[in-house]
Amino acid sequence: MQYSFSKRIQSVESSAVRDILKLTQGKSIISFAGGLPAEEWFPVDAIRTASERVFRQGPQALQYGLTEGTLSLRERLAARMGSQRNIQADAEELLISSGSQQAIDLFARAILDPGDVVLVENPTYLACLQVLGMYNARVIPVESDDNGMVPEDLVAKLKQHQPKFVYVVPTFGNPTGRVWSLERREALLRLCREHEVLILEDDPYGDLRFTSERVPNIAALEGRPEDRIVAYTSTFSKTVAPGLRTGWIVADKRIIRMMARAKQSSDLHSSVLDQLILSEMLLPEVFKLDDHIHKLSAVYKERMETMATELQKEMWRDSKWNTPQGGMFFWVELPEGLDAQTLLTCAVEKGVAFVPGTSFYAGEPKRNTMRLNFSFAQPETIRTGMERLTEAVSEFFGRYSGV
Ligand SMILES: Cc1ncc(COP(=O)(O)O)c(C=O)c1O
Repeated sequence: MQYSFSKRIQSVESSAVRDILKLTQGKSIISFAGGLPAEEWFPVDAIRTASERVFRQGPQALQYGLTEGTLSLRERLAARMGSQRNIQADAEELLISSGSQQAIDLFARAILDPGDVVLVENPTYLACLQVLGMYNARVIPVESDDNGMVPEDLVAKLKQHQPKFVYVVPTFGNPTGRVWSLERREALLRLCREHEVLILEDDPYGDLRFTSERVPNIAALEGRPEDRIVAYTSTFSKTVAPGLRTGWIVADKRIIRMMARAKQSSDLHSSVLDQLILSEMLLPEVFKLDDHIHKLSAVYKERMETMATELQKEMWRDSKWNTPQGGMFFWVELPEGLDAQTLLTCAVEKGVAFVPGTSFYAGEPKRNTMRLNFSFAQPETIRTGMERLTEAVSEFFGRYSGV
């Protein structure tokens, strides 16, 4: 039979990252494609201990739970965000989601009508573009540089398009690894307040820092006014384990209420068992989360440096890249005129994969860009993978030297 799919689902393309993951699964391909954390650093023992504590408390971990999320987890997260990030919220301003991906989805579902405009960085997080496509939003990229969105272009687009919200990943962004400067964060907040436009601050990587310097979150800069315009989302995926599928969002209570309504129709609530395990893991007598994050950041820093050393080799001299100060990604610009998608075919033949940058652009893509993940593979594997990639680049340059 001919299945008749909705226009909505047909208009959304499958994620290039997920497709490349499928391509590389089970093969001896070294993948720098996914945004995967280091498996060998998952705190398995602590998760086991926390689970045992949860089950000792009775069978309620297996019962249906609240749509907004388990109260103990919301309270502990609210306290942690206050002390760690200076983001002030109480449990009623916080909703637990199945990963921060779901928080983005529910936020968009609560706010957007078809045709509404959302402003995004250029480039931006691919799976957010998928969500926005699903709600038939008009996605307008704002000119962005190493410090964040360029205020002049932002003002022009706020005036021209009257967007519903601005979506940003200002700290160790995906895909670029960039950190917005304090001035750009303040400018975004001021301009969005002037134009009464919401901001969705997506912060999955903020804890994975390689330096002691910390720029305040936009949600912290906002403080706690009567009408919050900033919604802040983060996740346990990058600091504990993504398989637990637990993230959260802080926003004005009225937005949380509407998102809860959307969540009821989506999955009723996130896994109670996972939430209770994580709630236990926020107790210092069960797990020292900050020590764990500190160790993990040191591990990722070493992997980042290993990749940086490889990128310093001769073959990459005409490419541009920044040394990430945290997070999980290098963003590389090959010489103008070269297409990273074509390079990928050549790289996969050599046994290494990455994500071409094209998918991260809402507007006209820069085809010579690529994202390299450094958190998943161990240093030795990174070296081997980069040797293969450098070889692919060398052949590719040879083939296209006339370009
Ligand atoms: C910028 C950004 N936002 C959100 C997510 C979703 O993370 P999760 O749903 O696992 O919390 C990711 C995952 O890679 C991401 O890079």
